[in-house]
Amino acid sequence: MAKIQLGVMFGSRTCEHEVSIISGVQLARAADREKYDVWPIYIDKDGRWYTGDKLLDIKTYTPFDPYAKGITRVTLDLTAGSGALISYQQNNGLFNKGVTPVTVCKLDCVIPVMHGLHGEDGTIQGLMELANIPYSSTGVGGSAIGMDKIMMKQVFRGMNFPILPDIFALRSQWQADPDAVIARVEEKLDYPVFCKPACLGSSIGVSRANDREGLRESLDLAFSYDRRVLIEKGLDRPIEVNCSVLGYDGETQASVTEMPTTASGDLLDFADKYLSGGGGSKGMASLQRVMPAPVGDEMVKRIEKLSCDVFNALDCKGVVRIDYMLTGEDELYITEINTIPGSMAFYLWNESGLPYPKLIDKLVEYAQKAHADKNENNYAFTSDILNGVSLGGKTGAKNGGKLGGKLG
Ligand SMILES: Nc1ncnc2c1ncn2[C@@H]1O[C@H](COP(=O)(O)OP(=O)(O)O)[C@@H](O)[C@H]1O
Ligand SMILES: [Mg+2]
Repeated sequence: MAKIQLGVMFGSRTCEHEVSIISGVQLARAADREKYDVWPIYIDKDGRWYTGDKLLDIKTYTPFDPYAKGITRVTLDLTAGSGALISYQQNNGLFNKGVTPVTVCKLDCVIPVMHGLHGEDGTIQGLMELANIPYSSTGVGGSAIGMDKIMMKQVFRGMNFPILPDIFALRSQWQADPDAVIARVEEKLDYPVFCKPACLGSSIGVSRANDREGLRESLDLAFSYDRRVLIEKGLDRPIEVNCSVLGYDGETQASVTEMPTTASGDLLDFADKYLSGGGGSKGMASLQRVMPAPVGDEMVKRIEKLSCDVFNALDCKGVVRIDYMLTGEDELYITEINTIPGSMAFYLWNESGLPYPKLIDKLVEYAQKAHADKNENNYAFTSDILNGVSLGGKTGAKNGGKLGGKLG
């Protein structure tokens, strides 16, 4: 059987660019070469796309040299079903100085391994839908809601999922009248509170405020990253538990749970997540953890069930990770969902008896299934409404903006 041409996409214009490179290279290296021709696709911080075997070496990125041997600049052909990565090659002929498009490969499936904006937030997913390429992550709507902590909590509240009370504010409101924003926070919430940029991850811009002065600093920080900020009731040193879910279309399985153990300050920060494993970051795989989380069988069961419910609520696909906070009184709250989790949570699946290459096989399988399901939909609704329509007159300003004919 012909091998599947598998695109592994990472990088992109996001604060989590470097984290995504680690996750992407990890996945690309783990994919089974018997089944796949792997095409690493790196999107740099300016949004340029590259492919080539050299992208599989993590040293390639320190610093990244786009002209290095083994790296080819490409663009994606958006024609539905094409899947082509195109490289534009300079012609050297005397009378032919233009460029020639060359098809480097035709992708059968893409695994987006991107964290944060322009990758985990529904944008790449929209691109894949347009180009009609099977892809392994949650769809446009679920990805967008999962990325946006404000909307995510509104949806979760609607589903009666356990979440902490919060309010949100806009940067324009903060700039115009900071005291009014502070008054709104204090009316609804007691200190401490946590301020979070709506659409970020990896704890970037997240901080705890213990009083009014701290709140000003926290809001300044969060608004430097995002136009919208979530302000949430804070817990004191909660136990954190994460659980991954794998599935598609009502089929779900929950992974072993983990309890991160390196939290030394007020929150599990960027350094805890990626710099705590000693020399050489392995992305989220570096974090110190206990698996399964030592929170009792009953709580673990509750977390597994809730994780599958959250997965289904956002119509997720592939692998996600849902994070929780637990108080000493056994109160359980959802912190967030990551629809493209760090390191694709492979370490949790490994512990659950599913080695990384097999996890990747499942991602491809669900991507293909979702693609087949989509193409079962009827896009061919035909009608003859175009026949006999006359919109008359000239177009644009010369016509005074008026169109002839009638619609509706
Ligand atoms: N309401 C809260 N109370 C106490 N700690 C919190 C709260 N919200 C977040 N944290 C801490 O901050 C970390 C990052 O918050 P999170 O919402 O997961 O943002 P990110 O998407 O950046 O990971 C959490 O892992 C936890 O350690
Ligand atoms: Mg988090």
